[in-house]
Amino acid sequence: MSATFMDRLVDRIARRPGGMIGRLLYRHPAGHKTSFDMTLDALGPTPDDHLLDLGCGGGVFLERVLKTGASAAGLDHSPDMVDESRRRNAAACAAGRLTLCQGDVGRLPFPDGAFTRVTALNAFFFFPDPQAAVAEMARVLAPGGRLAIVTTPPEQAAALKRYFGPVASRMRLDAPEVLGDWLRAVGLVPGTVRPVRAVGYLITARKPVMPATTGAVIEMPGFHGLITGRIGDLLVVEADVTGAIPAHTAQGAELVVVLSGELHARVDGTERVLRQGEHALIPAGASHGATVAGPTRLLLIGPPE
Ligand SMILES: C[S@@+](CC[C@H](N)C(=O)[O-])C[C@H]1O[C@@H](n2cnc3c(N)ncnc32)[C@H](O)[C@@H]1O
Repeated sequence: MSATFMDRLVDRIARRPGGMIGRLLYRHPAGHKTSFDMTLDALGPTPDDHLLDLGCGGGVFLERVLKTGASAAGLDHSPDMVDESRRRNAAACAAGRLTLCQGDVGRLPFPDGAFTRVTALNAFFFFPDPQAAVAEMARVLAPGGRLAIVTTPPEQAAALKRYFGPVASRMRLDAPEVLGDWLRAVGLVPGTVRPVRAVGYLITARKPVMPATTGAVIEMPGFHGLITGRIGDLLVVEADVTGAIPAHTAQGAELVVVLSGELHARVDGTERVLRQGEHALIPAGASHGATVAGPTRLLLIGPPE
C-alpha cells in the first residue's frame, strides 16, 4: 500500500474523518469516554459557562457538556464531523445553546475572550501548528477561564503503534513539559497533568485574570505594577501602592517585600504592619488585602492571579 493511500485512510478515520466509516466511528467513540469523563471532572462546566470544543468530531463530548447546562460551540475541519455534531445536538442548536462551524484551529472564527472553557480532546496530536493552536486557544479564553487538552506523550509511541498502526505514525507526540512551556509562552498557567488510559494524558491550564507576561503592566485603583521577570511559574512584580488593595484569595504562596513606605497587610483577618526591608509570606488560599500609610513600593513574587 502506498503512503498516499495510508495518508488518505488515516484522514478518513481519524485526522479528518468522513464518509460512512468516519461518521460511524465518531458516533460511538467508546475509546474516548474516559477522556470525556476526566475532562468534565477537571473543568466542571456549569450553566454559567460557555465551552468551545476544538476537533469536536461527532459531538458526543459536546452533548455531555450541554447536559451540564453550559452553552457550547464546536469546531472541526471535517464537514462530515460538523454535520454529525449538528444532527446529534439538533435541539441545542435550534435553542441557540450550541453553535457549530467548520474551520481550522490555527485561525478560530471567534472574538477574544469569548469562552470560559476550551477543550481539545484526542485531536491536538493532529493539529499541524501546535503553538499557533495554543495561542488561539489562549486568545479566545476569557480571563479566569480554563482549558483542557487530552493528547499522547512521546514515550507511548510503541504502545500507540501496537493499538493504532498507521494512525500512530501520523500523530505528533508532545511531552507534557513541552506543552506546558507552550501554554506558559501564551500567558496561561499550566495546572495538573493526569494519565488517561494507557496512552494519553490530560493537561489543564488557566488564563490569569491579570496579564502574566514580562513587561506587562497591572493597573488597579491605587495599584500600579510592572511584571519585571519570572522565577519558574512565579511572577516578579514591582508595584507602587497609593491606595487600599481589596481583600482577595492568594492563588498560591506569595512573597511581599516592602521596598519603601509602610504596608498595613491583613492576612486571614490578622493585621501586620510591614516597613522598609520587611517581608511577609502569604500562604496559598489565604484571603489578603492591604492599606498604606503613604506611597509605598513593593516587590511581589507569586503566581499569576
Ligand atoms: C480523533 S478525532 C477526535 C474527535 C473528538 N474530539 C473525540 O474525542 O472523539 C480528531 C478530530 O480533530 C479534527 N481535527 C484535526 N485537525 C484539525 C484542525 N487542524 N482543525 C480542526 N479540526 C481538526 C478531526 O477532523 C477530527 O474530528
